[in-house]
Amino acid sequence: MGTKEVFINPNNIDSSLASEAGKILKHGGLVAFPTETVYGLGANAFDEDAVKSIFTAKGRPNDNPLIVHVASKEDVEELVEFVPKKAKLVMDKFWPGPVSIIMKKSDKIGDAVSAGLDTVAVRMPSHPVALAVIKAAGVPVAAPSANTSGKPSPTSAKHVSEDMSGKIDMIVDGGRCSVGVESTVLDLSGDEAVILRPGGVTPGMLESVIGKVQYSKQHVADENTPRCPGMKYRHYAPKASVYVLEYENELDRKRVCEMICGYKKKGARIGILDCADNGNLYGVDMYVCCGESSEKYAENLFYLLRDFDQKGIDVILCPMNFCDDMSNAVRNRLYKAASNNILNFEKRK
Ligand code: TXA
Ligand code: MG
Repeated sequence: MGTKEVFINPNNIDSSLASEAGKILKHGGLVAFPTETVYGLGANAFDEDAVKSIFTAKGRPNDNPLIVHVASKEDVEELVEFVPKKAKLVMDKFWPGPVSIIMKKSDKIGDAVSAGLDTVAVRMPSHPVALAVIKAAGVPVAAPSANTSGKPSPTSAKHVSEDMSGKIDMIVDGGRCSVGVESTVLDLSGDEAVILRPGGVTPGMLESVIGKVQYSKQHVADENTPRCPGMKYRHYAPKASVYVLEYENELDRKRVCEMICGYKKKGARIGILDCADNGNLYGVDMYVCCGESSEKYAENLFYLLRDFDQKGIDVILCPMNFCDDMSNAVRNRLYKAASNNILNFEKRK
């Protein structure tokens, strides 16, 4: 399949291109488009065959439900049994924006979208290109992240193209994504509000609007927990082996040197993805500061993981000491990319 690639400037939307993308979606095709979190791979949420083709293009297990994207709050109503009071509050405060809300689904949502669950996740993104494309489609758009299943989510059109070229109808380039990690997934389908996946809208932000929100600090969900099916799969993994070096005050530099020496002896190419700009102190093959705040770090993380792969790095060491609200979202992704290789590297006093 030929994949058409177009650019839509977020600051000056070309409505004829948006309408072309919308038509493809409406008629059962697949279009990747930018959101403020990551690029999504969209299909008409009311077209079961189109939705199924998303799973094929991504190689995604079909027990993993999709988020349905809308261009206005009113469009949620036909997708759900009812809009709970807390959901209304969250929408009013954070939409358009990076939080998906799980509610009881209406019978308009087919089993392919919800993976057979009786709930549906809905989100209104804030990216102007996403909004223009969804609006032009005239239907709600089911969209997972536009990566091959298991790889880091794409935050640029180039990364979408690496995974999806030849498999989908169109890629809409709208520049780099600003949040950089996927939306917060908030379950409001039961009595309690539960965060199933941390993201750009933090637990503190949600609690200021709807009161107590449950959130497990366990960064990688138990393999047996079915609540957020996506959490049980290997995720965000670059080809390189990733190690997270956790420290609170001071990184144990001697141990870092020993670790690097060990890998060098085996002929590995080493990278460091730092959380503060210390320069290439250790003389590794590739050194990048991912961002000195957890927001900046989130913005760059997936982009840089793919970059390390492209430069042929075998081992990525990630010193990490963030502890603010947004650091939950960062650690959630990083720990999965590291397949839980998490080491305590605090310098002993
Ligand atoms: O920021 C985002 O959320 C991006 C952009 C494109 O909007 N989308 C995204 O979709 O990350 P995806 O499919 O990669 O992740 C959706 C997550 C999965 O972990 C899935 O299991 C969970 O949301 N999910 C979706 N519907 C659910 C439901 N009804 N119940 C529980 N979890 C659900
Ligand atoms: Mg994904």
